[in-house]
Order: sequence, then structure tokens, then C-alpha cells
Amino acid sequence: MKKLVVLTGAGISAESGIPTFRDAGGLWEGYRVEDVATPEAWQRNPALVLDFYNQRRKRALQAEPNQGHRILAELEAYYDVTVVTQNVDNLHERAGSSHVIHLHGSLFEARSSVDESLIYPVNGWEMKLGETCAKGSQLRPNIVWFGEPVPRMEEAIAYAAKADVFLVVGTSLVVYPAASLLYYTRHNIPRFLIDPNIPDTPAMPHFTCIADKASSGLARIKPRLIEIA
Ligand code: APR
Repeated sequence: MKKLVVLTGAGISAESGIPTFRDAGGLWEGYRVEDVATPEAWQRNPALVLDFYNQRRKRALQAEPNQGHRILAELEAYYDVTVVTQNVDNLHERAGSSHVIHLHGSLFEARSSVDESLIYPVNGWEMKLGETCAKGSQLRPNIVWFGEPVPRMEEAIAYAAKADVFLVVGTSLVVYPAASLLYYTRHNIPRFLIDPNIPDTPAMPHFTCIADKASSGLARIKPRLIEIA
């Protein structure tokens, strides 16, 4: 089977009711990154950080996968699919995608504040102060904060470099290194991008761009993707 690699962002979960970050009404309108999504914020006010992710986790639990997530899962019948997502919800998995790489972590994992190898599942929506790891340190969300390394980027690059078809869905491509993934694909493969607002990046001329929402855009190109599988 040919390898299909898909880079997704918050836009693919928008139709599931999960806010994006940079659209009107997005998460970064209500919160400052510096207050809730950096190691400094965690040191300064861990309760505020835990609450920010508790609210997002509660919202993600109430959300359902949409047709966009489902189509990517359905394409596993035609391709060896790897979804590289910047999202921390679990909607790709709940839609049936079997190979998902979370570049920015997961709302449903907690990790030790002193040993990043100590990872624990988060059951339910709430993480609390006082919940500690085996080494006695406060558990933090297993999320990659701004300024922290992206542990799975090398793995994602290896998949992108071997892709036979590459797809980008619902990301503004403004956060690195995730956005650089586009530049690791071979140049002679079909590359598609679906987003209501086509990002303005140097790679775009090499992409077939569909200015549409994830669900309808993926429904439109699914026959084409099956045809070239
Ligand atoms: N279908 C597809 N795309 C959509 C939809 C939709 N229904 N609605 C919005 N979009 C697009 C927007 O046009 C935009 O290009 O989704 C993208 C959302 O961009 P961002 O809000 O910047 O989200 P994302 O690109 O995932 O952000 C990357 O930034 O804040 C950090 O760690 C966070 O992983 C996140 C990273």
C-alpha cells in the first residue's frame, strides 16, 4: 500500500465544536499563551494552567469526531495512513485512525514534572493540584508547551519523507517545527491542502489547495485520493 501522511491542526476539530486558536473567537483570544501554555506559566501558577487544560479536556470529551476525522480513518482501506496531528484531542483515534502521532501531546495523558518518561492516563476531565507522579512531583498535562522541545518531530519527519501522498488539513502553519513538516516530503508526490483560508507559505504553489472546511473538503478529494492510491 502507498503511504499517505496527513498533517492536521485545530481546523479539523472545528466542526466538532472545539475552538481553534487563531480564528475569531479562538482560544488565544480568551487566554494569553504566556499565562497557560509555557513552562514559566506552570511554575508561576500551576492551578491556572491545570484549569485551562481541564476546561479543554471537558470540551474534548463532549465533542464527537466529524466527517473529516472519519474520512481520514476510512482512507486506511486504501493507504498506509499516518496522521501527524498538532491537536491534543483524541478525535482522530475515536474516529478510527490507527496510527496517530501527537506532535504537541495529548489532553488525555499526564506526566511527571521531573521525569518526562513517567506518563499516566488522565481519566475523566479533571487534573488536580496534589496529584503526584511515582517520584512525588506534581503531575502536569503531557502537552508540549511553547519553548519546549517537540519529542516526536524526528519521527514525523521520517514518515513525511517516505510519504507517497501528503495532505494538510486545518492548520495555519504558523507554529514550528510542526509547520516545517511540509518541507520534508519528496517533491514529486501529490500534495493537497484543505483549509477555508489557504495559508500563505512558500510551499503552497506545490500543493493542490482546496479552500473549504475539513469535512466537505475531504469529501471532495476522497475519490481523487482513492484513484491515485
Ligand atoms: N475546517 C478546516 N480548517 C479550518 C476550519 C474548518 N472547519 N475552521 C478553521 N480552519 C482553519 C483555519 O483557517 C486555520 O488555518 O484551521 C486553522 C486553525 O489555525 P490555528 O488556530 O492556528 O490552529 P493550529 O494551526 O492547529 O495551531 C498550531 O498552535 O497554539 C498552538 O499548540 C497549538 O497545536 C497548536 C498550534
